[in-house]
Amino acid sequence: MAGERRPLMAANWKMNKTVREAQDYMAALLPRVADLAGEVDVAVFAPFTCLSEVARMAEGSGVLAGAQNFFYEDSGAYTGEVSVPMLLDVGVRASIVGHSERRELFCETDEAVARKTRRAVEAGLLPVVCVGETKEERDAGRMWEKVSGQVRAVVEGLGDAPGRSLVFAYEPIWAIGTGETASPEDAQDAIGRIRELLGELRGEGFAAETRILYGGSIKPGNISEIMAQKDVDGGLVGGASLEVDSFLQLVEAARG
Ligand code: PGA
Repeated sequence: MAGERRPLMAANWKMNKTVREAQDYMAALLPRVADLAGEVDVAVFAPFTCLSEVARMAEGSGVLAGAQNFFYEDSGAYTGEVSVPMLLDVGVRASIVGHSERRELFCETDEAVARKTRRAVEAGLLPVVCVGETKEERDAGRMWEKVSGQVRAVVEGLGDAPGRSLVFAYEPIWAIGTGETASPEDAQDAIGRIRELLGELRGEGFAAETRILYGGSIKPGNISEIMAQKDVDGGLVGGASLEVDSFLQLVEAARG
C-alpha cells in the first residue's frame, strides 16, 4: 500500500447488536486501539439504533462512528429514512453507501448511490462506497464492465470533492459472507483498475489519495496477504468484525 494513504479497517456490523452489545464491544475496543496514533484509521459501522451510543463512546478516541446507509435529502416526507444532518447531529462521521446488500435487496440504483455519495461529501460525512460484481458477471467476463460503471456513476456525480473526502470498497458479491475470498491477486487487479479509472476521470492526484478497501470474507487468516497488495488500503469486514478480538487482529494487520 502506498505510503501517503493511511490504512482504514472498518467493521460492518450489518443488522447485528443491541445497544447493550454495542456498548460492551466499544468498551473492549477503545482502550486497545488508543495507541494507534495515526497509523491506521478504525471505523465501526453500526445499525441506527446503536449509533448515538457508539458515536458518544467513540468521541475523542479517533475511532470513526459510521452508519450503514442514509437518504440524500436532508428532511421531509420520507418515511423510514435518516438523513446526513441527522447522522452528524449524533456524532456520526462516516457511512457505508451502496453496499451490495442494499443494491440487491433494497433496489438501490447507481444513481441513488451517486446522489448519496455527493450529499455525504458536501456535508463532511465520509462515504465508503461499495462496488462489486456477482459470480455470474465475473464468470461471464463482465467484472470490469459492472465495477467501472458503478465507480463512474459515483465519480461523475461528485462535483469538486477532493480524493480524501471519500473511500471506495471493492466487494465482490460472491465473496461476501461466503467464506470464499477473492485471491489477493484478484483483489489487487480490481482495485488497481479502479485506481487507474479514478486517475482517468479526475486526475492522478485524486487517484493517489483516494483510499480503496477490499471486502468479502476477510478474516485474521487472510488479511496479511490482502493488505500486502500495493493498491489495497484496508478492509471492510462483516462477519469477522462482530467479535472484538478478531477485529483487533485485523486492525493490527493493517498497521503492518
Ligand atoms: P463479510 O462481509 O466480511 O462477512 O464477507 C463484508 C461486507 O459485506 O462488508
